[in-house]
Amino acid sequence: MFETKILKSGPQSFSLEEQLADTVNAGLSLENKRLPSWLIFDSVGSEIFKKITELAGYLPAACEFEIIRHHKNNIAKLITGNTFNLIELGSGDGCKTRILIEHLLSKKFSFQYFPIDISNGAVTNLVRSLEDSHPDTSLKVTGLTGDYFEGLKTIIQDGPTQNLVLFLGVTLNNMDPDTARSFLKNLCNALGPKDYLLTGFDLMKNPKLLYSAYNDSEGLFEKFNLHLLDRINQELGADFNKEHFVQQGQFNPNTRAVESYLYSTRDQTVHIKALNKNFHFKAWEAMQTEQSFKYTLEEIENLAVENGFEVVEHLFDSRKYFVDSIWKVAH
Ligand SMILES: C[S@@+](CC[C@H](N)C(=O)[O-])C[C@H]1O[C@@H](n2cnc3c(N)ncnc32)[C@H](O)[C@@H]1O
Repeated sequence: MFETKILKSGPQSFSLEEQLADTVNAGLSLENKRLPSWLIFDSVGSEIFKKITELAGYLPAACEFEIIRHHKNNIAKLITGNTFNLIELGSGDGCKTRILIEHLLSKKFSFQYFPIDISNGAVTNLVRSLEDSHPDTSLKVTGLTGDYFEGLKTIIQDGPTQNLVLFLGVTLNNMDPDTARSFLKNLCNALGPKDYLLTGFDLMKNPKLLYSAYNDSEGLFEKFNLHLLDRINQELGADFNKEHFVQQGQFNPNTRAVESYLYSTRDQTVHIKALNKNFHFKAWEAMQTEQSFKYTLEEIENLAVENGFEVVEHLFDSRKYFVDSIWKVAH
């Protein structure tokens, strides 16, 4: 069984269109302009991000592929019953999860896979490609387009079915520390005592490596961040000219985050029809479009405990650049 459902709203309780307009208005009205990276993830943004995850120099993806390949048995051992739900928050193209799915199928586990993502293109493509590659298996897939918690609400009910929740990649790294804490608290409240969360963290490492991971020679990161302007043009009727912006990522030792900026190469005014407003950019003014906080192991363990979890196991890649940390709700 393969299906995709569109849930009605965006990351909060009002419609995605309203939230887009509201977020863009708030971010461009700040003294230091700043927009969140979830805005980049429409179908095209997800496609560009998929190409980024295939770059050898983009360490978070390269390391997490290695972790899933190497530790798929440890992950399978978390399953206690005959059937379970494999839930993935912010699945994107689900390419790392596919390694786990193949393993679970080869071990004859019976499960339903629920990828949840706000990018409808990402969910639709993932469900379609799983259907194409598994025409004869018992694999059940229900893709959900919408916000993490709206998706979870439709899946998790009190009952005997165990849930294994995956939150892969740097999605938690992308949240500022307060948002990460409230996200984890909500997640903890949604899970039951037999459920597990497997969540990825890109670890603090040599800033030179962090810099090169986010400034690729093919210019994919620049294309990805500039896509934000295309999306605002398409969805809100703005007149951004991508040629008049450049992108750069840099490590900020004060926030311990890699921060990506779009720089306006000239003095310019942009009109956004849906907001009926002009926004002015001074020459070389910077607008932040992404952030990726880098964690130490101690910070990760504190984050688990502070938000109601206990750490079950850390799964590392061979260079210890990244960790997939397995948590369960603390008693
Ligand atoms: C950094 S990408 C990671 C994708 C994938 N997990 C991976 O490891 O390659 C973050 C993903 O989360 C999705 N996303 C962001 N905010 C979301 C939200 N509030 N609800 C559901 N999905 C969201 C984005 O569309 C994107 O596909």
